[in-house]
Amino acid sequence: MRRKAELPDDYVPALGFDWLTSIYDPVVLLTTRDALVKRNLIEHAGFDEGMKVLDLASGTGTLSIMIKRRIASVDVTGVDGDPKILEIAETKAREANVRVDFDNAMATNLPYPDSTFDRVVSTLFFHHLNNSAKSQALSEVFRVIKPGGRLVVGDWGKPTGFLMRLLFYPIQWLDGFETTRDNIEGKLPAMVQDAGFENVQTLESINTVFGTLALYSAEKRETSITA
Ligand SMILES: C[S@@+](CC[C@H](N)C(=O)[O-])C[C@H]1O[C@@H](n2cnc3c(N)ncnc32)[C@H](O)[C@@H]1O
Repeated sequence: MRRKAELPDDYVPALGFDWLTSIYDPVVLLTTRDALVKRNLIEHAGFDEGMKVLDLASGTGTLSIMIKRRIASVDVTGVDGDPKILEIAETKAREANVRVDFDNAMATNLPYPDSTFDRVVSTLFFHHLNNSAKSQALSEVFRVIKPGGRLVVGDWGKPTGFLMRLLFYPIQWLDGFETTRDNIEGKLPAMVQDAGFENVQTLESINTVFGTLALYSAEKRETSITA
C-alpha cells in the first residue's frame, strides 16, 4: 500500500534537512557504525521462518534489506513518512533483488490491523519525535505487534560519558534538541514500558563519533487462554 502523506511542519527528515536525504546512506555508514548496529539488532530480534516483520521508519531500507538477506522467508514491510526516502529504499531493494513492501505512513497512525507483526524493529528513529509523538508511535507499535511478539529498537541513548555527550551536539542541532532529549536522558525504556510492553531491556550501548547508540528490546505478553 502506498499513499502520499502530507508531511507536518515538525517532521524531521532523515538527516534533519530534506536536501540532505540523498547523502543519508554514506553519512550514516561512516559515522554511526551502522552495519554493526543493524547486524546486532538482527541477532537480538530472533527472526524465524515465515515471520511478519515491520521496519518502523525504514528510511532508505538498509535494515529491511539486511533482514531479507539474512532470512529470506520472513515477510518484511518497511514504513516511513517520507515518500522521497521510500523511492531510494525501493530502488535499493530492487537492486538487491529482495522483496520488501514499503508503505508511506506516519508512525503515529500505522495503517495495519491489530496484532499483525511478529517483530517490529526500528533504527535511528525515535529521536525524530517529540515526547507525545514518541508515546503515540509506541502505542501504535504495541497495537500492531502480535501477543508474544518482540520490539527491538536501536537509537541514540544515554551517553556513556562526557565525551559522548559532547559528540552528540551535532545530532541535536540537525534533528532537534527537544526530540532528542528523551533519548539522552535514557527515558526510552520507560516509555516503551508505559506503552504496555514487558521485559524491557537495554541490550547494548555502542559508542560512535556522534555519541552513544543503545539497543533495546521489549515483549508483548502472550494473551492467556481462558477455558
Ligand atoms: C535517521 S532516519 C533512519 C532511517 C532508517 N531506520 C535507518 O536506520 O537508516 C529516520 C527516518 O524516520 C522517518 N520519520 C521521521 N518522522 C517520522 C514519522 N513521524 N513517521 C514515520 N517516519 C518518520 C524519516 O523519514 C527517516 O526516514
